[in-house]
Amino acid sequence: MSAPVRSRRTSVADIKALKGVRPIVSLTAYTAPMAALLDPHVDFLLIGDSLGMVVYGFETTLPVTLDLMIAHGAAVVRGSTTSLVIVDMPFGSYQEGREQAFRSASRVLAETGAQAVKLEGGEEMGETIRFLTERGVPVLGHIGLTPQMVNVYGGYKTQGRNQFQAAKIKADARAVAEAGAFGFVLEGTMEPLAREITAESPIPVIGIGASPHCDGQILVSEDMLGLYNEFIPRHVKRFADLGAEVSKAAAAYAEEVKARSFPGLEHTFQPKA
Ligand code: KIV
Repeated sequence: MSAPVRSRRTSVADIKALKGVRPIVSLTAYTAPMAALLDPHVDFLLIGDSLGMVVYGFETTLPVTLDLMIAHGAAVVRGSTTSLVIVDMPFGSYQEGREQAFRSASRVLAETGAQAVKLEGGEEMGETIRFLTERGVPVLGHIGLTPQMVNVYGGYKTQGRNQFQAAKIKADARAVAEAGAFGFVLEGTMEPLAREITAESPIPVIGIGASPHCDGQILVSEDMLGLYNEFIPRHVKRFADLGAEVSKAAAAYAEEVKARSFPGLEHTFQPKA
């Protein structure tokens, strides 16, 4: 099936309007070539701080800097033409308070050309989300399993397993919507909680390891393409095994080089008769 033709970038308002109409499709992207490949198939591209793990080889997302997010965000904007582009706010760039968050977010929008930012946290981030949205920064929230809290959780653990946690995640969902976010990512929760939150939420709920009944889904592209094997979350479905293809291609190339039988180069370096 061919991809739908769109003539302008999807906006935050377009994403909001999709709730209850059809599922919202999104993936992460960190580079211009990958953004160009994914762009025709998704509603939004997220430059996730997961790039710290899947591109830079860190153990967590915590070492990712604002400058790194801005460099990759600008690359994804250059590589895409129709998707909404959202940049993750990295650890330490917004938690201090609403003014710090605005300084960081305004740099992201001005220096990348992206249209929105994402930040982690529920009730405790309500005031910050309101401050940003009232000043021209559209915000996608992120609640449930929030990877920047890995040291507080003691790992990447499913959230909402008991009544206390479930009530907290529901309160987070309400707080983020009331503060003016245009949607939120709901990560690492379970049924029936994710389905209930989606039904109650006035804004789109984008699931990852949450429920097929969310308003949309997001995956880390390297996970679903088989390009990252260090840690494979349980919710990840592999749609391709590009890691194996890369290994095969590198091995074939190495053999040709060692055998001095590399047809392209032979041709290029032949002296003229
Ligand atoms: O950093 C990231 O890629 C994310 C998605 C998994 C939602 O936050």
